[in-house]
Amino acid sequence: MDTRLLIQDAAGFATPLLAVFAVDIAVAAGAEPLIALLTTSDAVTHAAGKVLASGEFKGNLGETLLLHAPSGLKAERLLLVGLGKAKTLSIDEVRKAAGTAVRALKPRGLRELAIAFPEDHALSDEHLESLPGGLLARALVEGAELAEVDYDTYKSDRKDLSVQKLSVLAKESEKAVLAEMQAGFHEGLMVAKAQNFARSLVNEPGNVLTPTELGKRAAAMCVEMGLKCEVYSTEKLHELKMGAFWAVSQGSVEPPALIVMTYEPELAAAEGETAPVLGLVGKGITFDTGGISIKPADGMDKMKYDMAGAAAMIGAMRAIADLKPKVKVIGVVCSAENMPDGKAFKPGDVVTAMSGKTIEIMNTDAEGRLVLADGLHYTKTLGCTHLIDAATLTGAVAIALGKLNVGLFSNDETTWERFQWGTKISGEKFWRLPCTDDYKDQIKSQIADIMNTGATRYGGSITAAMFLKEFVGETPWIHLDIAACAWNDEAQPWIAKGPSGIAVRSIVEWVRSYSA
Ligand code: BES
Ligand code: ZN
Ligand code: ZN
Repeated sequence: MDTRLLIQDAAGFATPLLAVFAVDIAVAAGAEPLIALLTTSDAVTHAAGKVLASGEFKGNLGETLLLHAPSGLKAERLLLVGLGKAKTLSIDEVRKAAGTAVRALKPRGLRELAIAFPEDHALSDEHLESLPGGLLARALVEGAELAEVDYDTYKSDRKDLSVQKLSVLAKESEKAVLAEMQAGFHEGLMVAKAQNFARSLVNEPGNVLTPTELGKRAAAMCVEMGLKCEVYSTEKLHELKMGAFWAVSQGSVEPPALIVMTYEPELAAAEGETAPVLGLVGKGITFDTGGISIKPADGMDKMKYDMAGAAAMIGAMRAIADLKPKVKVIGVVCSAENMPDGKAFKPGDVVTAMSGKTIEIMNTDAEGRLVLADGLHYTKTLGCTHLIDAATLTGAVAIALGKLNVGLFSNDETTWERFQWGTKISGEKFWRLPCTDDYKDQIKSQIADIMNTGATRYGGSITAAMFLKEFVGETPWIHLDIAACAWNDEAQPWIAKGPSGIAVRSIVEWVRSYSA
């Protein structure tokens, strides 16, 4: 989508469709909606006057209303887009409403739209607290770009419903305000492109996106964006003594891929040895059958998305290459296919991880923590001072938190607080769960150092995090269990069904928080 920010009066702009945001400013509980448009253009407000007075449009998030030939406007159509209640309005509603506007074009076969930049000062302070222009611009572009994508990639009768052009129309303002908006707009574009790239990887079926292919796509991205990239396979795993990672991989005819992407800022050298180096580690199981502890057939097809953590890290590296924070970042992806086979690892096996720890395999379906064990340890040996991992690690996280919040674990308060801060910008939701040492007994093995599942089913996401913690040591670390949030089971007015690209935005913000 060709997306641009214009300083332009909305009423005088010729476009097939002009979208304007609307909020419900009714304050009393249970009161009829009272709709206000987030624009200071009298012509736009006038054009929508009658339909607003009718009460037909409630202004709910995801709701739209289309008017043809709106009087007094150069636009051919006027689309009212609901943001929900003014009282609870946040940047995230703007992101979703922008997406709703873009997706409203698709069934109509329209290819071009304009969005009136939400002017929250159109309302008095008692209705709406002002939202920062830079963040608004950013969220708006993100929502629009994410909404544009559909996942009918492999349909032979695929209809092209792409929206090709978006003009965001903002009013003339002070220079500093405009500069902030321009910067937010640019950032939003970069981050959304990266998130869409991650989503496109997750969308690929397991027969197309093997570990080798994931390595190729990551390498191609790195070449395009000017990042250093190395892709290793079986030999390197043996050389590094990655016994846990190899155990998962050994049952597949597809060789594993250890992908290492490096971003080095131009100024890093001058900052000396105390400068942080961030390690981003992703679980890249391109298909998870469960291995010998095989999964039930029902729903197994979904296990192509067991590389969503890897995709999030590859996507984040893309955005980092674009946004150029002043901090060194190393992205490491551990990719394998988890298959049952004559050569596959088995329950009862004992394997030795790169760190030297021995692991008793209780269940071959708990494979993600095995590849990450070696990935996390290896990333530390590359000099990383802070670690973050993302993984579709456990089904249990969906039981604990549902599909709205990602499960977050951390061994360090400061690192967690930094991450939290970034989620205010990303709009993604995370909920911290414990991984304190009193859970350690749960993964004690009788014959080895640890086992790869908890002693019971209880707290399955926590025991998985406890396992990872064994390989992190004292290094400040965040673990994101994205299993429940990486796939949208249903389409929403603002986003297609399928890969969500969760965590890319928050990981990027976390990285930027370290920018010198
Ligand atoms: N990839 C799965 C987790 C998963 C489940 C991701 C559902 C997305 C949706 C992971 O490898 C797995 O199978 N975990 C097991 C662990 C158990 C054997 C301790 C699980 O959650 O059942
Ligand atoms: Zn599994
Ligand atoms: Zn898995």
